[in-house]
Amino acid sequence: MPSGSGEQLWDPVVRVLHWALVLSFATAWGLGKFGPDQMTLHFYAGYTVAAIVVLRVLWGFVGPQTARFASFVKGPGAVLRYARHLPDRKPSNTWGHNPVGALFVVGVLLVLALQILSGLFADPEDYINVGPLAQYVSSDITRKALSLHEPLSTLLLVMVIAHIAAIGFYRRWKGEDLVTPMITGRKKG
Ligand code: HEM
Ligand code: HEM
Repeated sequence: MPSGSGEQLWDPVVRVLHWALVLSFATAWGLGKFGPDQMTLHFYAGYTVAAIVVLRVLWGFVGPQTARFASFVKGPGAVLRYARHLPDRKPSNTWGHNPVGALFVVGVLLVLALQILSGLFADPEDYINVGPLAQYVSSDITRKALSLHEPLSTLLLVMVIAHIAAIGFYRRWKGEDLVTPMITGRKKG
């Protein structure tokens, strides 16, 4: 490995899952909102997101150190301490997700899971776009699922915009490049 490019921060699994999530999430979202009335392709994109979320959660328990939830999910004390220094105009010097970023990571995985679950049980009563698990539950649940699916998709959009804005803030304000390590895996230690 070239020594000038730093040490490995993100393993290949984290990186591939992240960029696959970006693609499949954008596809699922775009097909849900702007795709054809027949939502088969939307469902496939949603299953892809589901597979990625499941793999990322498993990897959070068995993957290398920086991928593990136990290494980056912190209590309120650490979150507040980190947040207090967030406005400082210097790099965070965190090796891995910082305690505030960790809230986003866990939060977005949870909301993605709810988005997928609500899709699986949703029944728009149009006889074509029925979620594959809707037939196993009452119509109360299928209606509830349907009524959650759209607001959750808006919430996810807002979270993703905040995520990208935060990364821009680190770049421009704190002079810290988070994107290159998520691509190459490497960061100067
Ligand atoms: C992260 C994954 C997903 C995202 C981001 C997503 C997003 C969306 C969006 C934005 C819409 C349009 C909502 C509207 O404007 O009314 C939609 C509709 C829909 N989605 Fe998903 N979805 C996901 C996963 C799934 C899955 C896994 C399923 C089921 C297998 C599913 C089933 C549906 C159905 C049935 C509708 C139509 C609802 C209606 O007719 O009002 N979605 N989705
Ligand atoms: C082009 C758009 C995006 C860029 C440039 C981007 C960039 C990044 C970067 C740099 C990190 C690492 C943050 C750190 O150092 O702590 C990250 C992490 C993460 N991002 Fe994104 N992101 C994008 C879109 C998304 C989207 C659309 C989602 C989900 C719907 C998402 C979910 C995540 C998650 C879950 C992590 C944690 C990674 C892990 O530990 O596996 N990102 N992103």
